[in-house]
Amino acid sequence: MARIIGALTTSHVPAIGAAMAKGLQQTPYWKPFFDGFGPVHRWLEDARPDVAVVFYNDHGLNFFLDKMPTFAVGAAAEYRNADEGWGLPTLPPFRGEPELSWHLIEHLVEREFDITSCQEMRVDHAFTLPLTLFWPQGVPVTTVPVCINTVQFPLPSAKRCLALGRAVGEALRSWESDKKVVVIGTGGLSHQLDGERAGFINKPFDLKFMDSLVNEPEWATQFSIHELVEKTGTQGVELLMWLAARGALEGPVRKLHSNYHIPISNTAAGMMALTAG
Ligand code: DHB
Ligand code: FE
Repeated sequence: MARIIGALTTSHVPAIGAAMAKGLQQTPYWKPFFDGFGPVHRWLEDARPDVAVVFYNDHGLNFFLDKMPTFAVGAAAEYRNADEGWGLPTLPPFRGEPELSWHLIEHLVEREFDITSCQEMRVDHAFTLPLTLFWPQGVPVTTVPVCINTVQFPLPSAKRCLALGRAVGEALRSWESDKKVVVIGTGGLSHQLDGERAGFINKPFDLKFMDSLVNEPEWATQFSIHELVEKTGTQGVELLMWLAARGALEGPVRKLHSNYHIPISNTAAGMMALTAG
């Protein structure tokens, strides 16, 4: 059976892509952010996962406001990034893992999650940047994108997203394969890009949330979506993807590393690496 070796989470601010393309990682603005990834790079070199299941939110590239699935799973042989502006170098397509995609979809539907299955799917910065941050030398893993709607209301609750992650974890552990899987959750932490509260950041809430993910992932499920928006900003609800990724881990979890830095663009940028056992 496949083995889940850990969960990695990170913010996905588009400016990170421009910083990597221009080689700005060691400049004063970016260093506190990029330095967070060193311990994870070393762990990944050693742990060598084969597959990454990526919980992320599409921002209007693959799904727009006219058709917005709550949960969507990619089932394609490859996933292409489409230009978002910024003049970034074109990335090669990300390799899919269709057999696992279909296993996931079947398991999730059996568990009563109503999934949109996508045999074609373009991926945006929320998928591409985290993979590039974790593997800056080139992404060696195959991938399965799992998209959670955090763009158009109504959004799925924190409780539902944690349950989705748990069901994905079950599916991975029952996949007949000897592959090693890492789950990734992207987005957050607190940020608001629009409206009267643009620039809103809530450090005490973010730190409590990060802490809760290690031993008490249910903590965030006490909040409704509207309460989460109030506490973390309109885009801060992207923390739902962290919760789903954490949900895939079973039993005791160890925190390998975390980093938190304000601001990157308008965002409180966080990352965490949790390992199984
Ligand atoms: C920013 C953050 C995001 O999560 C995003 O999707 C786009 C922009 C920002 O802070 O600039
Ligand atoms: Fe985002």
